[in-house]
Amino acid sequence: MSEPVSDSKVTVGLGERAYDIHVGSGMLKHVGELLAPLAKGVVPVVTDSHVADIHLTPLLETLRHAGLDARAIVMPPGEVSKSFAGLERLSGALLDMEIDRKGLVVALGGGVIGDLTGFAAGVLKRGVAFAQIPTTLLAQVDSSVGGKTAINAPQGKNLIGLFHQPRIVIADTALLKTLPRRELLAGYAEVVKYGALGDVNFFEWLELNGPKALGGDENAMVKAVAHSCQMKADIVARDERETGDRALLNLGHTFGHALEAATGFSSRLVHGEGVAIGMALAFQLSVKLGLCPGQDAERFVRHLKASGLPASISDIAGGRPGAAELIRHMAHDKKVTDGKLTFILVHGLGRAFVTRDVPLEAVKSVLTEG
Ligand SMILES: NC(=O)c1ccc[n+]([C@@H]2O[C@H](COP(=O)([O-])OP(=O)(O)OC[C@H]3O[C@@H](n4cnc5c(N)ncnc54)[C@H](O)[C@@H]3O)[C@@H](O)[C@H]2O)c1
Repeated sequence: MSEPVSDSKVTVGLGERAYDIHVGSGMLKHVGELLAPLAKGVVPVVTDSHVADIHLTPLLETLRHAGLDARAIVMPPGEVSKSFAGLERLSGALLDMEIDRKGLVVALGGGVIGDLTGFAAGVLKRGVAFAQIPTTLLAQVDSSVGGKTAINAPQGKNLIGLFHQPRIVIADTALLKTLPRRELLAGYAEVVKYGALGDVNFFEWLELNGPKALGGDENAMVKAVAHSCQMKADIVARDERETGDRALLNLGHTFGHALEAATGFSSRLVHGEGVAIGMALAFQLSVKLGLCPGQDAERFVRHLKASGLPASISDIAGGRPGAAELIRHMAHDKKVTDGKLTFILVHGLGRAFVTRDVPLEAVKSVLTEG
């Protein structure tokens, strides 16, 4: 049997719930070897129909080759599956497979499949282990790491969920080659986020190497994913339940969610694009409040644009949502405590902080100008 090849291994240091994130190009063929010590009996593999068409067969083969009884559960693609109906269907399929509490459920897909599978595994029989095999850039650098799992409610996104850490994460960057360009770029916004929030050297590295990673350079992509995972792992190890530092990961999200809501969570704006514009607005708000040098905000926006990401509200196709509407959406966001909006602002590139002390007038003017 060949040695598993992982170009990078990152550990999420959570004591007895610690786990490894394996990042490399071509990792999929080693998944059987990596999962065999963690699984026995039936191993359900949950995926969506887009990913199933492209990547399911090789995964099932490597699992079966390792002696595991791998069986696929294929869900419809998209947010529609992150619902009570999706949960009912998935948990029914898992129960029909007679998975028990010693079992392991595998999530093969983007953030939708990871969030749904993690949640279903977390509540099934009061908790079954799961493994993440993320197939979008967003999932590889963000949603597969850190244990936040959820489904959506009619009242809003991600409102029904729990913290349930995966047992292992295996990120094969070669899988990203089949990802539509727009999805790849949307995930790249989350990569840029790590540089912007906490590591100016990484941001600088991305200015030079981000275009290579997006252009198919495997080494650059592995490094970008591994470094992002390392940064998220460090934050999650410090603050698993988001009582402090973990909130920094929401840089750009208060604005981004409002933009997504104002565009009806439609194809006019995908999540990562909302985050990109949201981060640009957070930089602009920080400059307006005298907290951040203007040249850092300009440099940040320049990199978003050079990468092909939107950087301003006017970049949204089909008309610009108004400031009043956006503020209304922000007020409904779950990041509101005691009637005050929580923002992640910056003192400069790589220096984000959490604040609730932001005058509404400044927010309004950034939303009108940005
Ligand atoms: N849990 C967390 O911490 C966390 C963090 C951020 C986002 N999220 C959640 O993640 C979700 C978004 O995730 P996403 O952007 O990965 O979306 P997604 O899972 O819907 O995937 C996007 C699209 O790409 C397709 N796809 C996936 N991998 C592919 C591949 N390799 N080749 C071709 N097509 C592929 C999917 O079928 C889908 O159509 C949202 O529901 C969001 O709430 C969760």
